[in-house]
Parts: sequence; structure tokens; C-alpha cells
Amino acid sequence: MSLPSFARVAAPADPILGLAEAYRNDPRPNKVNLSAGVFVDETGKTPMLATVIEAERRLADAATTKLYRPIDGEAAYRELVRQLVLGPEHEAVVSGRALATQTPGGTGGLRVAADLLRQTGASETLWMSEPTWPNHPQMFHAAGFKVRTYPYTDATGRRIDAEATLAVLGEASPGDIVLLHGACHNPTGVDPSPELWRRLGDLIEERRLLPIVDLAYQGFGDGLREDAAGLLELVRPGAELLVSTSFSKTFSLYSERVGAMLVIARSAADADAVQSHVKFAIRVNYSNPPAHGADIVRTVLADAELRPRWEVELAAMRARIKDNRRAVVGALEARHIPGDWSGIATQRGMFALLGLSTGQVARLREEHGVYVVGKGRINVAGFTAANLDPFADALAAVVASGA
Ligand code: LMR
Repeated sequence: MSLPSFARVAAPADPILGLAEAYRNDPRPNKVNLSAGVFVDETGKTPMLATVIEAERRLADAATTKLYRPIDGEAAYRELVRQLVLGPEHEAVVSGRALATQTPGGTGGLRVAADLLRQTGASETLWMSEPTWPNHPQMFHAAGFKVRTYPYTDATGRRIDAEATLAVLGEASPGDIVLLHGACHNPTGVDPSPELWRRLGDLIEERRLLPIVDLAYQGFGDGLREDAAGLLELVRPGAELLVSTSFSKTFSLYSERVGAMLVIARSAADADAVQSHVKFAIRVNYSNPPAHGADIVRTVLADAELRPRWEVELAAMRARIKDNRRAVVGALEARHIPGDWSGIATQRGMFALLGLSTGQVARLREEHGVYVVGKGRINVAGFTAANLDPFADALAAVVASGA
């Protein structure tokens, strides 16, 4: 017997991590990496947070065992995470109808959510925004969903088209799944207004849709509570939804793969039943979660001294991203690159979408060593004093010479 012949034909590189790999292999000294969403400081490094270093020191001092962890994670971690996402006083937390599960990053959380839905007979149809994070369609396809899209922005890619979004989602059938970005929309950086969240909540309720909220950047937009406000609009009495969250960016724990998936069910009894299916989905996939990243997050969130220090570190990352946003607008406007770039200054999170053609993106990479994703998604958190001008010069040159 042999592998199927299809396995001998190389699969396309991942639209984001494949670019990061190509960047690593690029020998040009002045290359600029704006591909994967990774925070860098003004020296271009992705530092460990001081609170993470302190938590690791405490954990190393106290370590005695590497025993397996529970399938859905340690109880203390699960409790802290559901409070972080929903707020400790929230009715869904107090009543016990919201439960969190530790997952390997936000990607792992989304995949657990997908498997949970497929194995319990949910609708096969899942609606996602166009554009969205490129891993969303490939992941939900791989999990067995039929993916449909709703328009999200207007033609500029820099403003939400609320009416078009609601009109297309109005065609969804009862039970269909709708994937929403909780805050810091990836790739556009454009989030729904409070009014649009309310209207989405109404539509989801009327059409009996099931939301999955991808909350990978809680705290990178306007603040921890502010960035959860949209999804809380969906947590109405009796409403059900799933949330995937990640600590890759907000704790700078990228390689530790730590995140969570929350189930908000109709009642505490329902949540317990759903949790048994969540555990099955995990057991048949990766069995049980890695310990280290979750231990760090738990140690920081549970500690009266470390937690406020982490919130200060998070606020500093957020402030740097906002500064970078203003600097990008300044650099593009200074070069008179055609287009209205001003919105980039007030968008949220790590990303902005320039709306480039495939040819322009390829020329940025091939002729200038500038790596951006898809239709010109840039990682705004990746700019430094050293790479902003080379990027803006390259963009000006590519745009000036046409397609
Ligand atoms: C991104 O969108 O660049 C990040 O979420 C990293 C990833 O895994 O794609």
C-alpha cells in the first residue's frame, strides 16, 4: 500500500504562516515583515512580558509534577477565564450557564467549537465575514462545514456596510452558525458599532442563529471590558453562543498555545451536558491540554500584585499599536499615496487592510522585500522607526506604477 497520490502533490503554503516562513528564508537584509499578527517593541523584538517572567519563576520554584491535566483544563484557569471574558458579575457566570474550556490557543478553541457542533448535529452551514482571517474558511471547511459569507465592509475595505451585512445574514436559516469577530476585526481592524452589535443580536435572536465569537485580541482594541462589550450584547437571557479566546497576543505567549473556548448555554444543566461533548471532542483530538501557558495565565490573573501589572503591560502594547496607527497614516499621507488612509488611525487591534491587488502584494514582496497578507493586510503592531519609511516608500512605488 502507499499514500494516496494526492498526498504527493504539495499543498499551498498557509496564507499567513507560509509568508512568515518565506520571510525567514529571505536573505535580503532590509526585508520588512508585516505578515503574521505579532507584537514587536521599538527594537523589532517580541519581548516576554515581565509578569509572565515572574509567573514562570514562581511556577518553576513550586513545580513538583508533570501529570496529565483534566481534559478541559484546570478548574481555577477555567474560572478566571470565564470571568475575564464575561465579567465576574455577569448573569451567565453567576448562574453557571457559561463554562470555559482550556484550549491550545484561539485556533484550538475554534476547532473544538467546530468539532463540538459537528458531532452534536448542528447546522452544516456557517456564515463568516468577507474578508476574514484566512484560517477561518480553511479550518471550518476541514471540520466539515459548508462555508458561506456575508459582506462586511464596503468596497474600500475600511468601512462597515451594516445594511449589507444584516441583509445577507437575514437569509441564514434557523440553526445556522454565524462567526463574528468580538473585537479588532482581522483583517480590517474595523469593528461593529454598539448599534450594529444590537441589531446583530436582534437578528440572531429572530432567526435563531448560533454565534461563534472569535475574541483573539481582548484588550488590544480599547480595553479588556470595552473589547468584550459587543459579544456581551449577544449574551441575552436564554441566548446560546460559543466564544473562542486567546492569550497569544495579550500575554505575548504565542508559542505556548494557550486560549479557551466558552460555551454559554440556556441553563447551568445544559452547560454541564454540553461540556461533556466538549470533553469528548478534545479527547478524540489532542486528549488533554498542555499545562505551561495556562499555568502562567492563571498565576497572573489570580495574583493581586501580578494582575494589575499585566493590565499595565497590556495597556502599553495597546498604546504602542495606536501610536503606530497614527504613524502609518502620517507616512502614507506624506507620500501622497492615493486613497483616504485616515481611518487606519482610529481602527482597532493589530491589523489594517490596504486593499491592494494580488500583483501589488507580490511586487511589494518580490521587489521590495515587504511581506503583507492577502489584499494588503498589514500588521500595524509590526512597525518600528526602522521599517516604517522603507514600507511606505515601497508602497508608494508599487501604487504609483499601477497594478
Ligand atoms: C494572524 O492573523 O496573523 C494571527 O492570528 C496569527 C495566525 O495564526 O494566523
